[in-house]
This record gives sequence, C-alpha cells and structure tokens, in this order.
Amino acid sequence: MKKFSRLFLAVLMVFALIFTAVGCGGPTEVGEQDQNQSQVLRVGTNASFPPFEMQESGEFLGFDMDLIRAIGEEQGFTVEIKHMDFKALIPALGNDKIDAAIAGMSIRPDRQESVDFTEPYFDAGLIIAVRNNNDTIKSTEDLKGKKLAAQNGTTGAAYCDSVKKQDPSTVVRIFDDIGAAFMELEKGGVDAVVNDLPVTAWYLKEKESTNVKMVGEVFSADEQYGIAVKKGNQEMLDMLNEGLQKIRDNGKYDEIYNKWF
Ligand code: ARG
Repeated sequence: MKKFSRLFLAVLMVFALIFTAVGCGGPTEVGEQDQNQSQVLRVGTNASFPPFEMQESGEFLGFDMDLIRAIGEEQGFTVEIKHMDFKALIPALGNDKIDAAIAGMSIRPDRQESVDFTEPYFDAGLIIAVRNNNDTIKSTEDLKGKKLAAQNGTTGAAYCDSVKKQDPSTVVRIFDDIGAAFMELEKGGVDAVVNDLPVTAWYLKEKESTNVKMVGEVFSADEQYGIAVKKGNQEMLDMLNEGLQKIRDNGKYDEIYNKWF
C-alpha cells in the first residue's frame, strides 16, 4: 500500500511537471501577445475644437480622435483619451501623464524645444472672425487697437499678442475654450476672434443662428498639425509615424478625412 502510494505520487508529480511545462509554453505565448495587443496609449487632447476633437455625452469624437484610434488599432494599442486644457498638454507630456497629444496642435519651433512632433497630418492656418455688421476689420492690418479673442496657449493667441506688441492699445482676451471666445464675439464683448480656419469654418457651418462671419485671407498658412510626444521619446514617435503612414497607405486616413470634411 505504502509502495503503491509512493508510485502514485511519483506518477502524479510527473504529470504535474508535464502540465506545468505545457501550461508555461502555451498560455505564456498567448499572454505575451495579449499584452502587446492591449498596450494602452494614453492620449491627451483638448476636446473643444470641433471637428478635430469634441465631447458628446462623454464620448470623444472628431477627426483627431478617429485618427489616433486608427493609428492605435493599426499598431496594437488601446487608445485612452484624456481631456485637458490646451495649455496643459505639453507639460503633461513632460511629466509622463500622457504618452501623446493630438489636439490640432500646430508644429511650431518654440514647441519643438519641449516636444517632438510626428510627420504633419493636416494643413491649417489662421482666420479672422468678426460680427456680420463689422465693416472695419477686413484683414490682419485692421486688428490693431481692437478687442481680440483667442484660445489660451494657441497660435491664434500668440498672433493676438503680436498685434498688441505693435499697438499697445489692442486688447487681448484669452479663453480656455474657443467656444467661449465665439460667444463673446457673438454678444459684442470683443471685435474679432483669431483661430484656426477649419475650426472657425465648422463653427459657422454648425451654429444655427450666428451673427459672425470670416474675413480676409487665411494667414500663418504654413501651420501644420502634428501629434506631439515627450521630447526624445523616439520609440513612441516612430510607432506613431509608422501608424500614420500605414493609415495613409491603406485608405483609412482618407476615409476619416471624408467623414469630417
Ligand atoms: N492649431 C492651434 C495651435 O496649435 C490651435 C489648436 C487648439 N487645439 C485645441 N484642441 N483646442 O495653437
């Protein structure tokens, strides 16, 4: 009996060993694959910039949102989007709170001191918006000495500041949200809003009744949007550039573009 149970134990141990070995081989491989497939990409945006990014009943929508999700899918990442002030995006990359920022962010040399940008994914530029009954502001030259509004931390805001430098009587009002700047323009609190053309055009198209129009030519027309990563994060940059190239090649980029524009 004793002998038998010892043998039984030995057989049991051999089986246990075999199962452990098999158990290690199979599931670990799958596990590793799972891990790759479900890597999380933490993406920051400022979701008040339609049609690039907006929030509707808690969901992130827009061209940029579809774009980053498509890149994530292509590269085996689950994209997790966080909303923050536009001005907070670059610092958040610096403190590793997010891995990437996509927010209609123009590739500018001053920003390139603290972040790296992917290849450009969209051409934009600035435009002036005024009230319909305004016939004094027709171009950038006419902005001097007026009340201007823009979104905090944007190229539009930087432009307004440069006008104020030329003419200190210019008033610059800065809003965290571009929608609030338009509201202020609608009600007469400011004379003009300086903002990215595609976003101002979208505002005018979507707003049911507006007394705002665009004037003049698009300026700062060399602006191109890029996805930003922490400076020196080459691995992340390569991953995003590769994904961007893949969705350009497989038609997904065009599909997303045609959905929004
Ligand atoms: N393109 C402009 C910039 O880079 C404005 C971007 C604003 N984006 C946003 N999601 N609010 O400064």
